Amino acid sequence: MRRVAIVGAGQSKYGEFPEKGIKELFFEAYKDMASSVDKNFDPKQIESAYVGNLGSGGFQLGNMSALVAEYVGLPYIHTVRVENACASGGYALVAAVMDVMSGAHKMVLAGGVEKMTDVSGMKQKYWLGVSGDTEYERLAGTTFAGLYALIAHRHMHEFGTKREHLSMVAVKNHKNGAQNPKAQFQREIQLEQAMKAPIVAYPLNLFDCCSTTDGASSLLVCDAEVAKQFTDTPIYITGFGTSSDYLAIHDRINTVTLEGTKRASQHAYKMAGLTAKDIQLAEVHDCFTIAELLAYEDLGFCEKGKAGQFIEEGHTKIDGDKPVNASGGLKSKGHPIGSTGTGQAYEMFNQLRGTVQKPIRQVKGIEKGLVHNVGGSGGTVSVSIMER
Ligand SMILES: CC(C)(COP(=O)(O)OP(=O)(O)OC[C@H]1O[C@@H](n2cnc3c(N)ncnc32)[C@H](O)[C@@H]1OP(=O)(O)O)[C@@H](O)C(=O)NCCC(=O)NCCS
Repeated sequence: MRRVAIVGAGQSKYGEFPEKGIKELFFEAYKDMASSVDKNFDPKQIESAYVGNLGSGGFQLGNMSALVAEYVGLPYIHTVRVENACASGGYALVAAVMDVMSGAHKMVLAGGVEKMTDVSGMKQKYWLGVSGDTEYERLAGTTFAGLYALIAHRHMHEFGTKREHLSMVAVKNHKNGAQNPKAQFQREIQLEQAMKAPIVAYPLNLFDCCSTTDGASSLLVCDAEVAKQFTDTPIYITGFGTSSDYLAIHDRINTVTLEGTKRASQHAYKMAGLTAKDIQLAEVHDCFTIAELLAYEDLGFCEKGKAGQFIEEGHTKIDGDKPVNASGGLKSKGHPIGSTGTGQAYEMFNQLRGTVQKPIRQVKGIEKGLVHNVGGSGGTVSVSIMER
């Protein structure tokens, strides 16, 4: 199988942009990606495109992958829209990697785009909720915040995880996001403020939740053999893994483990010949603060049940021994569903190349990173390992 590298990466600003549609957002990310390629970029060499997206389509905007490809000047290529709820972007990256690995195409675009802020709060909650179990959980009236609240409750009950531990995740990620010019919320928050925010679904409050966001991201994925034609510092995808799980929490082996994360990461580590210990930076799926704590455990960064202690001891701060979500994570950077997975890889590309704009957010001298993207409350998960 062919080796695979990323030679360019771009992201639009994340936030609320009433004046921009999915085409404009996707173009902004594509243009940013094109300008990041060090030399010899020729769009005519792009042979296929995988575009993560959840909300567009259906009766309104079918064929959206062809639509955004056409808009950036790429008609007549193989295009696929990838939809796996909030993990759509991560799966778009994996699809692009498999395309290049197979030898079918040498240069492939992986990206994602979502436009979330132009519908009402009620519609957003309905629309997001249908990525979970619609037969029992939905009928019981749960939202995603409600489902993660159940998981948080159980984690607190079984392991003594404290409310403070959840807020510590929010404080850390807002601190990092404050240094990210493309983040939706570029402001720090204090622990007391995070603890006292209005409740959304107990025990989760406003600062335990990601927001709703407009945004796009774009990666240029190619055969490693030709990568050096475009840059002296390609970033290699050395491992990946994906796994589905039961959609409904009550069907799972247990409620405090995302089995999809465990299985996807174990596959990715094996493929890359690494273990969790080797990972120097991770961008993980912190749609709710409890999700970041679960990720520490299920990715193998700490023992099951010890995530509270792990955040409290500062391991995952930017200057800790296992930094997590240097970008600000979904919590502060924002979560434009289809773009999130490739957006995480955009951050890792820059971190590994040492090209993060604000040096205070740059994790220095790292060579191995991991990106982790979760769909729904764990129904789909993708993990990719990126190395300099
Ligand atoms: C958290 C949530 C319920 C807040 O929605 P809301 O109450 O309608 O909030 P609004 O958008 O009206 O914003 C109210 C204020 O809070 C701020 N805000 C909104 N979400 C925020 C967040 N997640 N973190 C910090 N501040 C936030 C807004 O900027 C706004 O501030 P302002 O009054 O100073 O302008 C909503 O964003 C949500 O449902 N998030 C989860 C999305 C989700 O489930 N994604 C899928 C994950 S699997």
